[in-house]
Amino acid sequence: MTTVATMIPHSRPAIDQEALRVVVDVLSSRHIAQGACVERFEHEMAAYFGLQGGVAVSSGTAALELALRALKIGAGDEVIMPSYVCAAPWLATQRVGAQATLVDIDPDTFNIDPFAAGLAITEKTRAIIVPHLFGLPADLAALEKLGVPLIEDCAQTLGAMEQGRSVGTVGRLTVCSFYATKLLCAGEGGMVLSDDASLLERVRSLREYDGAPVLDPSSFNFKLTDLQAALGLSQLGRLSAFHERRQFLAATYREILSSKTVICPNVPPGRTHGYYRFVIRVPSMQAKPDGLMNLIGQLEQQGIHCRKPVFRPLHRYLDMPGFPRSDEADRTALSIPLYPDLTGDEVGQIVQSLGKVLG
Ligand SMILES: Cc1ncc(COP(=O)(O)O)c(C=O)c1O
Repeated sequence: MTTVATMIPHSRPAIDQEALRVVVDVLSSRHIAQGACVERFEHEMAAYFGLQGGVAVSSGTAALELALRALKIGAGDEVIMPSYVCAAPWLATQRVGAQATLVDIDPDTFNIDPFAAGLAITEKTRAIIVPHLFGLPADLAALEKLGVPLIEDCAQTLGAMEQGRSVGTVGRLTVCSFYATKLLCAGEGGMVLSDDASLLERVRSLREYDGAPVLDPSSFNFKLTDLQAALGLSQLGRLSAFHERRQFLAATYREILSSKTVICPNVPPGRTHGYYRFVIRVPSMQAKPDGLMNLIGQLEQQGIHCRKPVFRPLHRYLDMPGFPRSDEADRTALSIPLYPDLTGDEVGQIVQSLGKVLG
């Protein structure tokens, strides 16, 4: 049995001495809740995207809820989203009292299928939540043409390009997550960003209740702390180095895996991939209902922690039929470790174990 000490984890945050120093500096200052560091983090994130502003919040899920509230989406409204995504977009939509309309994905990219999204539009549709999964931008050009406000969910993708534009700069609002495993991590945390000052103001007014002129039940404590913001700022300073390392590791995987019976991530023309995750497809798992989980178990025995990149598609939680591409992804997509601190030796071990297990 492999011991935990020898496991290669699926995720590992890149925390250097500088990160330790900046967090200790905040602790030493005794100003540890939301303050000057949070404000600086908001400014620097907005500058990173080239957007007018950002409002830091407690999580990516909170950011989605506040983005919906900023657009005044509520009971009687519909929000389109892909089924193949974590539960956050659905939960945020439920929390504002709106109806989530699930659509299938583009089989080549794992991202929302713009054609399916177009077919799902009704007179009640108020927004489309567009997660850019695994580091690859969704087809923003096609989604824009649908004429519905887009909320770009950049929890998994920063810095990747679509038709010469950076993700996060196209929608009415953009949300980020700074969860521990994310591209830019702060333990927990999120942000809503936009070029629209009135939307940002609405988010800001809902983030906390202290000092509010009226008691608004949709406000809450959604604040980020200076401790988290300090870590976020130090990560932002390293983001382009992280990006380069991720590109290098992805290219290495592509080269070594090209002769194996797996399919490496597709990158359509006009887009770049940020490789938040390296999600391979294992077509031989398609016909085996428990195949992927067995494969993950076998890799764990070899000391490699791999995961399904989406725990369970939303339509499966909700027992809804009619999402064949999400079902296929659920059966065949495997996320193998890729993060800036992953070493060349570890890449070799991962590929060797995959070879052994897949035959
Ligand atoms: C696409 C996507 N959106 C939103 C979220 C929610 O972010 P958080 O975990 O910070 O609430 C996640 C987190 O995994 C995510 O992957």
